[in-house]
Amino acid sequence: MTDAPIHDDGATGTAAPDEADGGEVTMVLWRGDATGGAFTEYVLPAVEGEVVLDVIHRVQATHAPDLACRWNCKAGKCGSCSAEINGKPALMCMTRMSELPEGEDVVVAPLKTFPVIRDLVTDVSYNYEVAKRIPPFNPRAKTEDEVEAGGYRMAQIDVERSQEFRKCIECFLCQDVCHVIRDHEENKTSFAGPRFFARSAELEMHPLDVTDRRAILQKEQGLGKCNITKCCTEVCPEHIKITDNAIIPLKERVVDAQYDPVAWLGRKIRRRTKGTVEQAAATSPATGPAAVQPEDHPPAHGIPTALELDEVDEVDELDELDDGPMVSVAAEPTGAPMGQAGDTPPEAPSPADG
Ligand code: SF4
Ligand code: SF4
Ligand code: FES
Repeated sequence: MTDAPIHDDGATGTAAPDEADGGEVTMVLWRGDATGGAFTEYVLPAVEGEVVLDVIHRVQATHAPDLACRWNCKAGKCGSCSAEINGKPALMCMTRMSELPEGEDVVVAPLKTFPVIRDLVTDVSYNYEVAKRIPPFNPRAKTEDEVEAGGYRMAQIDVERSQEFRKCIECFLCQDVCHVIRDHEENKTSFAGPRFFARSAELEMHPLDVTDRRAILQKEQGLGKCNITKCCTEVCPEHIKITDNAIIPLKERVVDAQYDPVAWLGRKIRRRTKGTVEQAAATSPATGPAAVQPEDHPPAHGIPTALELDEVDEVDELDELDDGPMVSVAAEPTGAPMGQAGDTPPEAPSPADG
């Protein structure tokens, strides 16, 4: 449902014909809060060279000073201005008006996967709760040679492998598009999401890190729920190959731990190259176990406040997991879409639906 369009002069009614300045643009923006809302049309003069965020700012300046939107850098680097533009998760500051279908309304809605605070602003704290549960970087002790040389030595290829994931601006567009949590609120307690698989991959592939995260990825972070649809990769504004370079290698590592007979034998005779999460965290010079198990943190989105590491204390537990397929296909959506009540933003077209 949309309200009557509001024109640049504040009047409501049918859009005026094109002006000599090149025409008009109709912005259809979701307005409301956690209790519900609706789409409202705003008709403005078209201005060459603008991005969607520019037009949102003009709506604020000329029509709706109380319109809420989050932004900061206007350069695609802070990750604040994420929204769903014509049904596709994107940064408002990096989406040129000229790239959108000419003459058609521009529909801007808040991220569907997260609860609305107001208008285009959502509560993304789910992601920060998940981030706290990622076992932190835990480098091995320096060798004598490295102590003498004054630091670790790493091959350039290893540096580059991690740096791809360090480009993440935490816009959470990948989290928004992933159907595992987009369509299943209940999965938020057991699924880390693509941004955090990329973070775990960065740490797992780091040649200095000594923590083994495979059991946690399998048991706590729901890696098996990802069915490699690649939607997260498609929306990433930093062009991080989340699926190919993070998720699939992580799945391979978990499968190796569970099914590879050589790896199995190695574990049995305790010839591991990485320690358990607890062992590594206890000896970490950087952070220690407190960073793995945050205390006194209020629960959010039903996520446990502390990672139950006691239950995941051995990578050998992977041997005890069910012999089911590592890549599981998520069940058909069963619940109502999460995020908003009342007149919710529209279902995104296929590119946005994981
Ligand atoms: S590949 Fe698909 S299912 Fe897997 S994390 Fe990305 S969006 Fe989610
Ligand atoms: S991985 Fe890409 S899409 Fe996901 S939060 Fe980082 S920058 Fe955004
Ligand atoms: S305003 Fe910073 S990414 Fe858009």
